[in-house]
Amino acid sequence: MDFDRQSEAPYFDALAEYVRSGVRSFHMPGHQQGLGAPPEFVELVGLGALQCDITQVLGMDDNHRADQQCGQAQRLAAEAYGAEHTYFLVNGSSCGNQAMLMTSLRENDLVLVPRNAHRSTLTGVLLSGTRVAYYENPYDDEMGVFHAPTLEGVSAALDLHPQARALFLTSPTYYGAAADVHRLTALAHQRGLVVLVDEAWGPHLRFHPDLPPSAVQAGADLVVQSSHKLVSGMSQASMLHLRGNRIDRGRLESVLRMLQSTSPSCLLLASLDVARRQLVQHGLSLMSRALELAQRARRGLGQLGVRCYGHRPGVFGWDATRLVFSLADRGFSGYEAEKFLRYRHNLQMEMSDRLNVVALITLGHQETDIDRLIAAVDDLSRQTPQQPLPARSPRRQPIPESRLTPKQAFNAWWESVPLEQAQDRICVDTICPYPPGIAWVVPGEVLTASLIEGLMAELEAGVTIQGAFDPQLHTVRVVRE
Ligand SMILES: Cc1ncc(COP(=O)(O)O)c(C=O)c1O
Repeated sequence: MDFDRQSEAPYFDALAEYVRSGVRSFHMPGHQQGLGAPPEFVELVGLGALQCDITQVLGMDDNHRADQQCGQAQRLAAEAYGAEHTYFLVNGSSCGNQAMLMTSLRENDLVLVPRNAHRSTLTGVLLSGTRVAYYENPYDDEMGVFHAPTLEGVSAALDLHPQARALFLTSPTYYGAAADVHRLTALAHQRGLVVLVDEAWGPHLRFHPDLPPSAVQAGADLVVQSSHKLVSGMSQASMLHLRGNRIDRGRLESVLRMLQSTSPSCLLLASLDVARRQLVQHGLSLMSRALELAQRARRGLGQLGVRCYGHRPGVFGWDATRLVFSLADRGFSGYEAEKFLRYRHNLQMEMSDRLNVVALITLGHQETDIDRLIAAVDDLSRQTPQQPLPARSPRRQPIPESRLTPKQAFNAWWESVPLEQAQDRICVDTICPYPPGIAWVVPGEVLTASLIEGLMAELEAGVTIQGAFDPQLHTVRVVRE
């Protein structure tokens, strides 16, 4: 890597120069660099942010036509991450997932996807009109979550579907579990598949040896990362990395033009440029610090007797900056713990589920933050203990037969029928009991008697249903006959 060149941030510099030039604007956005914005908004976000909120001005390019500073910034990012080409995205990894699928597959091609993939992956499948075969990742009964893809699971799916053209992987997971992307990619490449990786939770991996290897280094063909999730990109700012020659670059670029706003904010793009520079220059020390802080948190919570999860058995790699803890054995659900920390201690976690709370420890934290979190959890653990929450294994249902592609089902005319009369009908909705958030049915799949019975039992147990048009499932939408 050329460290001299990496110390530059051409897009950020171009934006700074534009703002400092004192130009009087007659262009979008209508607030004219904050001058017309409501004063209360200017006071909250600062005039500087609004001055940088520009798009499509002379002298600056953007991610649609990256032939000046944005092109240079993307090349620097490609070098930093070890990719052949990097694309800056302003619509998150959601649009990156959609673009990877729409680029690599044609209508009716077959793609292998983990059943617990993020919903933007399922939208990508729908938009591209592909057929999809799902594989399942191992379920961790104690944590109550699915982990990353395994060699066994993916090999079995490859054997079962020799005609598949692409393998989709999600790694690391929201909880920090990482797959052996290197071996999975080698396996898939041997069989002629392209490998697409949702590495939304991995923009930092490249910059510390104690973190799992990044999928870009592991040789995957396309990898999307949410720079806004764990490093300094602004919300919605992500990167898509391309490696090797298996992907049609021209098609990828047209798909990206289709999926993103034609008015990308220079502010978001500049945040990607400086985030890359920060990681190249200081990533090792910043990530070392985040790892130490996460370790401090785990130690502190451990001393309180609070269960904290680290590298789990059978999981290839673990991102130790993710702090996952649980007070379920003291009777507090993850949701209750998250609310307590927010409303009693003004600490907002990343998310919670029935059993766990997930906190991100990043380059933005200090020891004092960790100590506050430990003290707040201590306070929670002193509240009147309740009955321990049982670690409830999710009811498993076989993946139903698929009669239409998700796109065909989505485009079909539909009707609503009572759930108990929906046997053998093709579902138009996704039906996903949450937790654990694995779809039992996706558009195009057939509702069986055992599935309907299982769904009724889930509802009775008080499980929330996501995705369905009627979340109470009094009725479901099925393809009209
Ligand atoms: C695994 C995974 N992939 C993709 C996304 C979507 O990323 P973005 O918010 O950057 O659109 C998320 C969002 O949480 C996610 O968890």
